[in-house]
Amino acid sequence: MLTGKSIILGITGGIAAYKGAALCSKLVQAGADVRVIMTDSAAKFITPLTLQTLSRHPVYTDTFDERDAAVVSHIDLADHADLIVIAPATANVIGKMANGLADDMLSTTLLAATCPILVAPAMNVHMYEHPAVVHNLELLASRGVMYVEPGTGQLACGYVAKGRLAEPEDIVAAVQAFFRRSKRLEGKRVLVTAGGTMERLDPVRYLTNDSSGKMGFAIAEAARDMGAQVTLIAGRTAAAVPAGVRLISVESAEQMLNAALHEYDNTDIVVKSAAVADYRPAAVQQRKIKKTGEKLVLELERTTDILAALGERKQQQFLVGFAAETEQIEHYAMDKLRRKHCDLLVANDVSAEGAGFNGDTNIMQVYSAEGLLESLPLMTKREAANRLMTIIADRLPLRRESAGL
Ligand code: PMT
Repeated sequence: MLTGKSIILGITGGIAAYKGAALCSKLVQAGADVRVIMTDSAAKFITPLTLQTLSRHPVYTDTFDERDAAVVSHIDLADHADLIVIAPATANVIGKMANGLADDMLSTTLLAATCPILVAPAMNVHMYEHPAVVHNLELLASRGVMYVEPGTGQLACGYVAKGRLAEPEDIVAAVQAFFRRSKRLEGKRVLVTAGGTMERLDPVRYLTNDSSGKMGFAIAEAARDMGAQVTLIAGRTAAAVPAGVRLISVESAEQMLNAALHEYDNTDIVVKSAAVADYRPAAVQQRKIKKTGEKLVLELERTTDILAALGERKQQQFLVGFAAETEQIEHYAMDKLRRKHCDLLVANDVSAEGAGFNGDTNIMQVYSAEGLLESLPLMTKREAANRLMTIIADRLPLRRESAGL
């Protein structure tokens, strides 16, 4: 299952470091090439020799212990890894990752790595629930870091609570699930739209909405991590652009329409999570509008519905629309799905706590032509994006059959 996969196993300093040995052994038995990096604190709990014997490679503990003059170890390791697993991950390494600190071999390698990262935290329950740790975990999740949640049980400190390192078997299962997922959209071209459009009134003013682009960016990352070639058409956003994704920046609904139509023929999957203006100013003033009377009336005109335009031209494409609603979710979702010829329609109640615009979480209902397909409870936008892309990958063959491909 893991043959040919290059995995860095980072072991940090907690009592659960001893489980790192079992994890290393299981990854090697599953066929992975495992390179172990241990922090100084980890080496106080378990010896590097144990990990060297199990991984059949020298263990890295010191950034300056350069063994091959032809390469810089932390860069070389980072460049060749398909995945980094940190188990156990202490609050300290999580904090360093969140803040970009690089003061030892593991954190330096993590900063140089562009591959996906899977973190298995283990610590005292109060540390795990500390707002700083919660914030760091959320921040890392928003950057695409994956987790294997700690278990609940007897902790080394005497508490019976959440904080135990997940069992090595469960971490291996998560690693295998990651690699299974990472190939599912190989060779597929995915187009994602994200963020809000900006409709200019004059050189200094525009109409826009609350979309931050976080949902669309998370979808682009999830598609990328499943092996797809991703193009992201982004309007106004506040989120960091995902690495490894082709970005087309636009402002207005019209620019987004033109970019989407340009990309459409060479696309297998389209996810339209952008919040597109339904109306724009009928005329854009070339000079700043001056203050005159007590009232100013703006004349607006309809924009083209991009999703509907794509739906009309649909051939092989699997088309996914979004719907930001505040009432009668199912009714409006199904109406949009049918009218705009979507294969799936993702509805979010943007008035619900933890859902919709701007935050890092969402609550989504996924509809197909047959009705409600899956209801995704409150989760991070990144996790929701993973689930959505998995549903799309599951249903893609059905779409290709019905399109006669
Ligand atoms: O960006 P975030 O802050 O993370 O917030 C995410 C989100 C709430 C914006 C996202 O989850 C979402 O719901 N996006 C769709 C918002 C929206 O425009 O919904 P709508 O119901 O107005 O439009 C329905 C669908 O038609 C959408 O796919 C939209 O992209 C599309 N549309 C709408 C108008 C238009 N002129 N052209 C379109 O293509």
